[in-house]
Amino acid sequence: MGPMDPLYALARPWLFRMDAEDAHRTILRWAGRASKSRAILAATRAYYRPARDPILECNVFGLRFANPLGLAAGLDKDGEAIDLWAAMGFGFVELGTVTPGDGQPGNEPPRLVRLIEQEAIVNRMGFNNRGAEHLARQLARRRTAIPCGANLGKAKVTPLERAADDYERTLRAVWAVSDYLVINVSSPNTPGLRDLQAVEALAPLLTRARRVERELAALAGRPRRPILLKIAPDLADPDVDAAAELAIETQMDGIIATNTTLRHELVPVKPVIAGGLSGRPLGPRALALVQHLYRRVGKRLPIVGVGGIMSAEDAYARIRAGASLVQIYSGLVYHGPGLIRSILQGLALRLRRDGFTRISEAVGSDGGSH
Ligand SMILES: Cc1cc2nc3c(=O)[nH]c(=O)nc-3n(C[C@H](O)[C@H](O)[C@H](O)COP(=O)(O)O)c2cc1C
Repeated sequence: MGPMDPLYALARPWLFRMDAEDAHRTILRWAGRASKSRAILAATRAYYRPARDPILECNVFGLRFANPLGLAAGLDKDGEAIDLWAAMGFGFVELGTVTPGDGQPGNEPPRLVRLIEQEAIVNRMGFNNRGAEHLARQLARRRTAIPCGANLGKAKVTPLERAADDYERTLRAVWAVSDYLVINVSSPNTPGLRDLQAVEALAPLLTRARRVERELAALAGRPRRPILLKIAPDLADPDVDAAAELAIETQMDGIIATNTTLRHELVPVKPVIAGGLSGRPLGPRALALVQHLYRRVGKRLPIVGVGGIMSAEDAYARIRAGASLVQIYSGLVYHGPGLIRSILQGLALRLRRDGFTRISEAVGSDGGSH
């Protein structure tokens, strides 16, 4: 890892002495206020000096990205600090997961635990959020021009057979103000949600999302919005293939791999709560899944790589395996916002070292060599 962000080096021990969810809440409260102040946003940009390098620019599913590194879903579920994430240097931001109406409280605490030695996190938050309409208001208020996605989910109380209604409601609520949409059927903390990844359940859901989106776009006279499918790392290869083929058939624009894993054997300790594991131990599985997906559908379906990316080296490997874009969550918790610049500078350096002139040339460049 590179030298740690000095500001975060001061803050981290203090944050890590707090209960993980209290720390998260504290950070988000600050970040939300900071995001509303032009002076603080300017100071943030001056401190983190977002990487601006043409080699990092890319065009994926019809959107332009100044760089390929995004904030993963779940850190800022309600879109409280969108402009701050942009000021820190992210090339795009994913908000949510949101559920319909006024949202829901999520599971009972404890529901968030750090595994510091492993640079991992276990969470069973259960889609705590203030609802899709609230997120839409936050998105409408943002000043940043970087692409912002809305990650959509199903309320805990909605029966699985009616899941498509929830995705439709949330999609309608955020459509006009988001740059892309994500159908999240891969969080382990909503009972039954991951069953929606099976083709029989997924087909009607994706078909309906695409149809509703197309209607909204036609009505507004605007180009259609990309819709991505986010999948779990715990699917068997045939199920991954089936979901990816279905995504293509139903005209999805990309696939996000991956969400958190239930394979707790990836860490040598027994986490004190059940839930999804993220961070460094997830890296090898998430990388393997990108490699697999790229071989199967890489030419037809852009891949967003997420899971265990903790350094520029990790991000570069994920891109060379086939990811057009990458996202981080746990890496930010362990290394702070300085990681964003460190990843982007390291990426640019590696691209030039290997003779690439654009990031898109590196996507999938070591496919087949495994
Ligand atoms: C506390 C926490 C909450 C999360 N909430 C969501 C969520 O609401 N929706 C979602 O699609 N992914 C969610 N994720 C998963 C992340 O977006 C990401 O896929 C996963 O953490 C792997 O990336 P990482 O290893 O960089 O953390 C959450 C992750 C964490 C740690």
